[in-house]
Order: sequence, then structure tokens, then C-alpha cells
Amino acid sequence: MNHLLSTQQFTERKMLEEIFASAEELERAEKEKTLEPYCAGKILATVFYEPSTRTRFSFEAAMHRLGGDVLSAENAAGSSSAFKGESLEDAMRVVSGYADAIVLRHPESGSAERASRASLVPVINAGDGSGEHPTQALLDLFTIRKELGRIDDLTIAFVGDLRMSRTVHSLLYLLPLCRNIRLFLVSPKTLALSPEYKGFLVQRGIPHEEADLAVAVPQADVLSVTRIQKERFTNPAEYRAVEGSYVIDRRVLEQLKKQAIIMHPLPRVNEIAKEVDQDVRAAYFRQTKNGVAIRMALLKRILT
Ligand code: NCD
Repeated sequence: MNHLLSTQQFTERKMLEEIFASAEELERAEKEKTLEPYCAGKILATVFYEPSTRTRFSFEAAMHRLGGDVLSAENAAGSSSAFKGESLEDAMRVVSGYADAIVLRHPESGSAERASRASLVPVINAGDGSGEHPTQALLDLFTIRKELGRIDDLTIAFVGDLRMSRTVHSLLYLLPLCRNIRLFLVSPKTLALSPEYKGFLVQRGIPHEEADLAVAVPQADVLSVTRIQKERFTNPAEYRAVEGSYVIDRRVLEQLKKQAIIMHPLPRVNEIAKEVDQDVRAAYFRQTKNGVAIRMALLKRILT
């Protein structure tokens, strides 16, 4: 079945290029009001056990744009039968009888894979704990391509929580499809990229080094910032120790290349100062809009 659980499913450059070309075409058609209702008669269920603004709304907007319908549980943990103790597997089995595809967000790593085994229809992983967030990674790479005109020959600095950021994990898995990528990993020691992902980078020959912000910023083409995710810490003291570790502000901007871009999956808390929003290199709000185009392309592909 056509599940989208991990960006590791993207094994060829061609697969990326097809999605990007389709996203561009659908975006253009949408703008010109010539978009065809490719998903008419189809139902998408968005089942979210964790908060979301962009991911859920952009999936739902994409489905509406394509003429389809949406069933939504925006607080599945509190408002669905999960509250009564129903298992994820049972919930997925049931919802898959009502919809043609399920978009799932859940706090446990591996939950999307579990869901896919119980579901009778395609499951799209919209974030499984600190595991992966494949559709975000696709829209991130699509954003880089749009903003910089390429997805090759890039120095990318990942800043923030690299241990638990599912958006970072999913993007890393796409990088072997790009040529000549170099990475800077900027994080507090306790939030460093885990050995599993470092091992992947070594195995795929992607040069990477842990560095301070001051070293990484002047060399970066893409400054990819992530939130330190309070909700993922079991120990509040551990969170307080790293809270506010990095702030991208006017002083950091002075060190950044003229042609570079700043990305963030959002929400930001205070890791990017508001004063940065005015800078042309701040791409994060443009990035959010690209989510609709990418998700239209994915829904069209999965549902038709
Ligand atoms: C991210 C997520 O939920 O993983 N947000 C998003 O989907 N755009 C990042 C985050 O919550 O910090």
C-alpha cells in the first residue's frame, strides 16, 4: 500500500523531482484558478494526538483545494475514544473504514508504522514523536530549491534540538539524494544528533561536524533552526538547562551570507528573534506556504 512513513522510502532522486514538479504544477494551477478536483469523492482523515497548526491545516487546505473532503480529530487524545483507552491500532482500523487515507500525528516514535499495519488505507506520518516527519522534510527541501534554485552544493547548518527533532531526522534521510552537501550540527551537548543518525551520515559519505553557531553561520547557505521541544523532556530540569541555548538575532544575521536563507518548521518560541522576520533571508513563513503545494502533490499521488 501507498503509506508514507519515512523519507527513507525516497531512494531515487527522480522520486523527489516528480513530487516537486507536481507541487509546482498544482501550485500554479491553484493560483490561476484552473486546479482540477483530483480528489473529488475522496475522504481524508486527519487524526492528531499532538498539537499542530501548520501540518494539519495545510493538509486539510490541500485536500479542500483538490476537491476532497476531510474528517478531522484535532485533539484525538482528548476527544476520540483514545480517551477511553482505545488502542491506536483499533482506532486506525476503524477510521480506515471511513476514509481513503489517514494523516496521523502521535507522540510515540514508531506509531505511524504501527498504524500502517492496522489500517486498511494509506497512512501518512505527520510526526511520530521524535521519530520522523517526512512531509515536513519534503516541503523543507522544496523550499530550499525554490529559494536558492538548487538542492545540490549546499552547506546546511542544523541548529537546536537535533536529538529529538523529527523534522531534522527526516531531512537527513533525503540528503543522499542531493550532491555535495556539507553539514554543521549546532546543538547543546545533551541534544546532539544521536549515533543512529550520525552513523547514517558516515555510511552515506555526508561530511558533518559539530560546531558552534559562530563557526557555522558564516559558512551556511541554509540555516535550519529548530525548537527545543519542551514537551519531549521527561525531566523539566533537563529542559531548563538548555532552554534558550540559541537565539538567531540581528547580530547573527550580520555573520550570515547575503544569499543564505533561514528556515524553521515553526512554531518558534524564542530561538529566532522577531527582528529577523523583516530580513529577506528569513524564509520560514514562505516555507509554511510551501506545505500546501507539497501536500497537494502527495495527496494526488496517494489518492488517485
Ligand atoms: C514541527 C513538529 O511538529 O515536528 N512542527 C511542524 O510540523 N511544522 C516542529 C516543532 O513542533 O517544533
